[in-house]
Amino acid sequence: MSAAGTAESSPEQKITVTVGRMEITVRPARTQDVKVIRSMVQPLATDRVLLDKDQVAYFEAIQEFLMAENADGEIVGFGALHVMWEDLAEVRTLATADEFQGRGVGGVVLNALLDKAAELGVQHVFCLTFETSFFKRHGFEVMNDQSVLDPSVFNQLLLSTDEGVAEFLDLARVKPNTLGNTRMIVDLAKRSDPA
Ligand SMILES: CC(C)(COP(=O)(O)OP(=O)(O)OC[C@H]1O[C@@H](n2cnc3c(N)ncnc32)[C@H](O)[C@@H]1OP(=O)(O)O)[C@@H](O)C(=O)NCCC(=O)NCCS
Repeated sequence: MSAAGTAESSPEQKITVTVGRMEITVRPARTQDVKVIRSMVQPLATDRVLLDKDQVAYFEAIQEFLMAENADGEIVGFGALHVMWEDLAEVRTLATADEFQGRGVGGVVLNALLDKAAELGVQHVFCLTFETSFFKRHGFEVMNDQSVLDPSVFNQLLLSTDEGVAEFLDLARVKPNTLGNTRMIVDLAKRSDPA
Protein backbone atom coordinates (compact mmCIF):
# COMPACT_ATOMS: atom_id res chain seq x y z
CA MET A 1 0.00 0.00 0.00
CA SER A 2 1.25 3.51 -0.82
CA ALA A 3 1.94 6.05 1.91
CA ALA A 4 -0.98 8.36 2.71
CA GLY A 5 -1.23 11.20 0.20
CA THR A 6 0.69 9.44 -2.55
CA ALA A 7 -1.89 6.85 -3.59
CA GLU A 8 -2.32 6.49 -7.37
CA SER A 9 -5.27 5.06 -9.28
CA SER A 10 -4.43 1.64 -10.63
CA PRO A 11 -3.75 1.70 -14.40
CA GLU A 12 -6.82 -0.39 -15.24
CA GLN A 13 -9.10 2.26 -13.70
CA LYS A 14 -7.78 4.96 -16.03
CA ILE A 15 -8.84 5.74 -19.57
CA THR A 16 -6.83 7.94 -21.88
CA VAL A 17 -8.41 9.52 -24.94
CA THR A 18 -7.22 12.09 -27.45
CA VAL A 19 -9.60 14.93 -28.33
CA GLY A 20 -8.32 17.34 -30.92
CA ARG A 21 -4.64 17.57 -30.03
CA MET A 22 -5.13 17.03 -26.32
CA GLU A 23 -4.58 13.77 -24.46
CA ILE A 24 -6.97 13.42 -21.54
CA THR A 25 -6.75 10.79 -18.85
CA VAL A 26 -9.87 10.12 -16.80
CA ARG A 27 -9.31 8.45 -13.44
CA PRO A 28 -11.18 7.95 -10.19
CA ALA A 29 -10.78 10.88 -7.79
CA ARG A 30 -8.61 10.67 -4.68
CA THR A 31 -9.09 12.53 -1.43
CA GLN A 32 -6.26 14.89 -2.42
CA ASP A 33 -8.43 16.10 -5.32
CA VAL A 34 -11.00 17.71 -3.01
CA LYS A 35 -8.95 20.91 -2.84
CA VAL A 36 -8.97 21.43 -6.61
CA ILE A 37 -12.61 20.37 -6.93
CA ARG A 38 -13.62 22.98 -4.36
CA SER A 39 -11.47 25.69 -5.90
CA MET A 40 -13.15 25.11 -9.27
CA VAL A 41 -16.68 24.76 -7.87
CA GLN A 42 -16.59 27.88 -5.70
CA PRO A 43 -16.69 30.52 -8.50
CA LEU A 44 -19.39 28.48 -10.29
CA ALA A 45 -21.36 28.35 -7.04
CA THR A 46 -21.02 32.13 -6.66
CA ASP A 47 -22.56 32.43 -10.13
CA ARG A 48 -25.24 29.91 -9.03
CA VAL A 49 -24.24 27.49 -11.82
CA LEU A 50 -23.30 24.71 -9.39
CA LEU A 51 -24.22 24.16 -5.79
CA ASP A 52 -21.28 24.36 -3.38
CA LYS A 53 -21.15 21.92 -0.51
CA ASP A 54 -19.28 21.70 2.75
CA GLN A 55 -15.81 20.22 2.45
CA VAL A 56 -16.92 17.13 4.34
CA ALA A 57 -19.54 16.40 1.67
CA TYR A 58 -16.84 16.24 -1.03
CA PHE A 59 -14.80 13.76 1.00
CA GLU A 60 -17.90 11.67 1.61
CA ALA A 61 -18.69 11.66 -2.11
CA ILE A 62 -15.14 11.30 -3.42
CA GLN A 63 -15.79 7.78 -4.77
CA GLU A 64 -18.45 9.30 -7.05
CA PHE A 65 -15.97 11.60 -8.78
CA LEU A 66 -13.91 11.10 -11.92
CA MET A 67 -11.03 13.48 -12.63
CA ALA A 68 -9.67 14.46 -16.04
CA GLU A 69 -5.98 15.31 -16.37
CA ASN A 70 -4.00 16.52 -19.36
CA ALA A 71 -0.63 15.07 -20.34
CA ASP A 72 1.09 17.42 -17.84
CA GLY A 73 -0.99 16.01 -14.99
CA GLU A 74 -3.02 19.23 -14.69
CA ILE A 75 -6.65 18.78 -13.62
CA VAL A 76 -8.72 19.98 -16.58
CA GLY A 77 -12.13 18.82 -15.42
CA PHE A 78 -14.18 16.46 -13.29
CA GLY A 79 -17.65 15.19 -12.64
CA ALA A 80 -19.57 12.91 -10.32
CA LEU A 81 -22.22 10.24 -10.65
CA HIS A 82 -24.63 9.81 -7.78
CA VAL A 83 -26.83 6.72 -7.79
CA MET A 84 -30.39 7.42 -6.63
CA TRP A 85 -32.24 4.21 -7.39
CA GLU A 86 -31.93 0.87 -9.15
CA ASP A 87 -32.09 2.44 -12.59
CA LEU A 88 -31.60 6.11 -11.78
CA ALA A 89 -28.49 8.21 -11.20
CA GLU A 90 -27.52 11.87 -11.46
CA VAL A 91 -24.55 13.53 -13.11
CA ARG A 92 -23.51 16.27 -10.72
CA THR A 93 -20.67 18.74 -10.32
CA LEU A 94 -19.49 18.31 -13.91
CA ALA A 95 -17.00 21.09 -14.65
CA THR A 96 -14.17 21.93 -17.00
CA ALA A 97 -11.40 24.36 -16.05
CA ASP A 98 -12.03 27.74 -17.75
CA GLU A 99 -8.96 27.60 -19.97
CA PHE A 100 -9.89 24.12 -21.28
CA GLN A 101 -13.59 24.77 -22.08
CA GLY A 102 -14.87 23.87 -25.55
CA ARG A 103 -12.08 21.39 -26.26
CA GLY A 104 -13.91 18.18 -25.52
CA VAL A 105 -13.00 17.67 -21.86
CA GLY A 106 -16.60 17.88 -20.58
CA GLY A 107 -17.71 15.39 -23.22
CA VAL A 108 -15.01 12.92 -22.26
CA VAL A 109 -15.85 13.14 -18.54
CA LEU A 110 -19.59 12.91 -19.20
CA ASN A 111 -19.13 9.83 -21.39
CA ALA A 112 -17.00 8.20 -18.68
CA LEU A 113 -19.71 8.94 -16.09
CA LEU A 114 -22.41 7.49 -18.37
CA ASP A 115 -20.24 4.39 -18.94
CA LYS A 116 -19.93 4.08 -15.18
CA ALA A 117 -23.72 4.36 -14.82
CA ALA A 118 -24.21 1.58 -17.37
CA GLU A 119 -21.64 -0.62 -15.57
CA LEU A 120 -23.56 -0.06 -12.32
CA GLY A 121 -26.77 -1.26 -13.98
CA VAL A 122 -28.39 2.17 -14.18
CA GLN A 123 -30.49 2.99 -17.25
CA HIS A 124 -31.60 6.59 -16.67
CA VAL A 125 -29.27 9.45 -15.82
CA PHE A 126 -30.60 12.80 -14.69
CA CYS A 127 -28.96 16.21 -14.59
CA LEU A 128 -30.00 19.70 -13.61
CA THR A 129 -28.25 22.21 -15.81
CA PHE A 130 -28.02 25.48 -17.70
CA GLU A 131 -25.90 23.70 -20.35
CA THR A 132 -28.81 22.25 -22.32
CA SER A 133 -27.14 22.11 -25.74
CA PHE A 134 -24.12 20.28 -24.34
CA PHE A 135 -26.30 17.66 -22.62
CA LYS A 136 -28.62 17.36 -25.65
CA ARG A 137 -25.62 16.53 -27.80
CA HIS A 138 -24.98 13.67 -25.41
CA GLY A 139 -28.50 12.24 -25.71
CA PHE A 140 -30.22 14.01 -22.81
CA GLU A 141 -33.79 15.25 -23.22
CA VAL A 142 -35.71 17.83 -21.27
CA MET A 143 -37.63 16.16 -18.47
CA ASN A 144 -41.03 17.71 -17.94
CA ASP A 145 -42.25 15.40 -15.19
CA GLN A 146 -41.23 12.36 -13.15
CA SER A 147 -43.05 9.86 -15.42
CA VAL A 148 -39.83 7.85 -15.69
CA LEU A 149 -40.49 6.88 -12.06
CA ASP A 150 -42.91 4.36 -10.71
CA PRO A 151 -45.08 6.26 -8.13
CA SER A 152 -43.96 3.83 -5.41
CA VAL A 153 -40.34 4.75 -6.16
CA PHE A 154 -41.24 8.43 -5.93
CA ASN A 155 -42.47 7.80 -2.39
CA GLN A 156 -39.28 5.91 -1.51
CA LEU A 157 -37.13 8.73 -2.88
CA LEU A 158 -39.02 11.19 -0.67
CA LEU A 159 -37.30 9.45 2.26
CA SER A 160 -33.87 10.54 1.02
CA THR A 161 -32.11 13.44 2.74
CA ASP A 162 -29.97 14.11 -0.33
CA GLU A 163 -30.48 17.58 -1.87
CA GLY A 164 -29.97 16.23 -5.40
CA VAL A 165 -32.77 13.72 -4.94
CA ALA A 166 -35.02 16.55 -3.75
CA GLU A 167 -34.04 18.50 -6.87
CA PHE A 168 -34.88 15.51 -9.05
CA LEU A 169 -38.27 15.25 -7.34
CA ASP A 170 -38.73 19.01 -7.89
CA LEU A 171 -39.62 19.57 -4.24
CA ALA A 172 -40.59 23.09 -3.20
CA ARG A 173 -37.85 23.32 -0.56
CA VAL A 174 -35.07 23.14 -3.18
CA LYS A 175 -36.69 25.46 -5.74
CA PRO A 176 -34.28 28.32 -4.89
CA ASN A 177 -31.35 26.00 -5.87
CA THR A 178 -32.90 24.96 -9.13
CA LEU A 179 -34.22 28.27 -10.43
CA GLY A 180 -33.51 28.68 -14.16
CA ASN A 181 -31.93 25.24 -14.52
CA THR A 182 -33.34 22.66 -16.90
CA ARG A 183 -34.11 19.17 -15.70
CA MET A 184 -32.74 16.67 -18.24
CA ILE A 185 -32.56 12.91 -18.49
CA VAL A 186 -30.97 10.32 -20.77
CA ASP A 187 -32.09 6.77 -21.35
CA LEU A 188 -28.81 4.87 -21.76
CA ALA A 189 -30.59 2.18 -23.78
CA LYS A 190 -31.06 4.85 -26.50
CA ARG A 191 -27.63 6.35 -26.08
CA SER A 192 -25.40 7.06 -29.03
CA ASP A 193 -22.12 8.96 -28.87
CA PRO A 194 -22.33 12.50 -30.27
CA ALA A 195 -20.65 13.12 -33.64
C1 LIG B 1 -20.80 21.97 -19.17
C2 LIG B 1 -19.28 21.89 -19.23
C3 LIG B 1 -18.80 20.86 -18.21
C4 LIG B 1 -18.86 21.48 -20.63
O1 LIG B 1 -17.46 21.33 -20.63
P1 LIG B 1 -16.55 21.48 -21.94
O2 LIG B 1 -15.25 20.87 -21.63
O3 LIG B 1 -16.56 22.88 -22.42
O4 LIG B 1 -17.38 20.53 -22.94
P2 LIG B 1 -16.98 20.09 -24.41
O5 LIG B 1 -15.75 20.82 -24.84
O6 LIG B 1 -17.01 18.63 -24.47
O7 LIG B 1 -18.25 20.63 -25.21
C5 LIG B 1 -18.55 22.03 -25.20
C6 LIG B 1 -18.70 22.52 -26.63
O8 LIG B 1 -17.45 22.53 -27.25
C7 LIG B 1 -17.53 21.91 -28.54
N1 LIG B 1 -16.32 21.10 -28.70
C8 LIG B 1 -16.05 19.91 -28.11
N2 LIG B 1 -14.85 19.44 -28.52
C9 LIG B 1 -14.35 20.37 -29.34
C10 LIG B 1 -13.14 20.47 -30.06
N3 LIG B 1 -12.20 19.52 -30.00
N4 LIG B 1 -12.95 21.59 -30.80
C11 LIG B 1 -13.89 22.55 -30.87
N5 LIG B 1 -15.06 22.50 -30.20
C12 LIG B 1 -15.28 21.43 -29.46
C13 LIG B 1 -18.74 21.05 -28.52
O9 LIG B 1 -19.38 21.10 -29.78
C14 LIG B 1 -19.60 21.60 -27.43
O10 LIG B 1 -20.67 22.38 -27.93
P3 LIG B 1 -22.13 22.30 -27.21
O11 LIG B 1 -21.99 22.77 -25.79
O12 LIG B 1 -22.99 23.17 -28.03
O13 LIG B 1 -22.51 20.85 -27.25
C15 LIG B 1 -18.63 23.28 -18.94
O14 LIG B 1 -19.20 24.26 -19.77
C16 LIG B 1 -18.73 23.74 -17.50
O15 LIG B 1 -17.82 23.53 -16.69
N6 LIG B 1 -19.86 24.41 -17.14
C17 LIG B 1 -20.08 24.90 -15.79
C18 LIG B 1 -20.63 23.81 -14.88
C19 LIG B 1 -21.92 23.21 -15.38
O16 LIG B 1 -22.83 23.91 -15.83
N7 LIG B 1 -22.03 21.87 -15.30
C20 LIG B 1 -23.20 21.14 -15.76
C21 LIG B 1 -24.17 20.83 -14.66
S1 LIG B 1 -23.57 19.59 -13.54
